Amino acid sequence: MTNVDAILASGLTALDAVTDLVELEQVKARFLGKSGELTGLLKQLGTLAPEERKSTGAIINQAKQAFEASHNARRDAINAQKLEQQLAAEALDVTLPGRGTSAGGLHPVTLTLERISALFASMGFAVADGPEIEDDFHNFQALNMPADHPARAMQDTFYVEGGDVLRTHTSPIQVRHMLTHGAPVKIIAPGRVYRVDSDATHSPMFHQMEGLWVEEGVSLADLKGVMTDFLRRFFERDDLQVRFRPSFFPFTEPSAEIDVLGDRGWLEVGGCGMVHPNVLQNVNIDPERYTGFAFGIGLDRFAMLRYGVNDLRLFFENDLNFLKQFN
Ligand code: FA5
Ligand code: MG
Repeated sequence: MTNVDAILASGLTALDAVTDLVELEQVKARFLGKSGELTGLLKQLGTLAPEERKSTGAIINQAKQAFEASHNARRDAINAQKLEQQLAAEALDVTLPGRGTSAGGLHPVTLTLERISALFASMGFAVADGPEIEDDFHNFQALNMPADHPARAMQDTFYVEGGDVLRTHTSPIQVRHMLTHGAPVKIIAPGRVYRVDSDATHSPMFHQMEGLWVEEGVSLADLKGVMTDFLRRFFERDDLQVRFRPSFFPFTEPSAEIDVLGDRGWLEVGGCGMVHPNVLQNVNIDPERYTGFAFGIGLDRFAMLRYGVNDLRLFFENDLNFLKQFN
């Protein structure tokens, strides 16, 4: 029993040395745990003569209380220090200016699409939609391009397993719409299209908007009038130079490509023509009764012209510094 003081002294020294709560509990266990040093002394009390037990027990209990008091003081000190560190680390300078929030904006191609849709809506065109993965019938055959037709080579096609394709243009939506709605029809149909194509004015994924107006008496003059009117309103220039360049599409006859004069010369923005009688027949519309025109314009090209962007690829790089300019 003579070593109570020594054990207490070494316990207090150990408590002084601890720096965190885990260590603190380890030290406590070393002295007050089941087989701790002070606990060991208490266990030995039974071996003492009864008259010695009481006084020795009191001495050991005093030591135990002293250890516990020191332990609690140490624990409080460690906790206080921890709190102080945490507060220091989380300190807020409420006088700093705020970071501000930046609002997102619409993509320039989306802005262009919405603008063009609004212009055509004002001319009575409804909006139609179709799938991006198309079958051969809708993308080619019904548009007067039977298998092995050389015009299929005009558009380098991405094929999907099973023979379907990523639609190469929005024209299959014409076919779908006429099959389900018949005539008369007056629609636009915007969407993503895909071709094996890539340079400053060609992207493998780009956006087109199809237009289709089939009704009794619709003529080539209507086509030129609607397109010229639309283009001048879109670019807000009454003197905008528009060129209808004779061309070929299997699904229209006659056909033309539409060019617009921009800062860098003529840029082709779309194709158009009078819907080919074979196409009308393919969708069960009587070509003797109905005529119509169709067009397909490149929305990304419109966005380039409107915003003065000279490389189409900028639209698809998701560079925020570029995109923020259109907010
Ligand atoms: C067509 O896709 C026809 N379906 C358009 C059409 C519809 C004609 C209805 C007649 C009647 P073309 O391949 O020329 O035609 O494409 C139309 C427009 O899409 C082009 O004028 C151009 O503005 C745009 N375009 C074509 N390829 C790309 C490309 N790789 N990247 C960006 N724009 C493109
Ligand atoms: Mg073309």
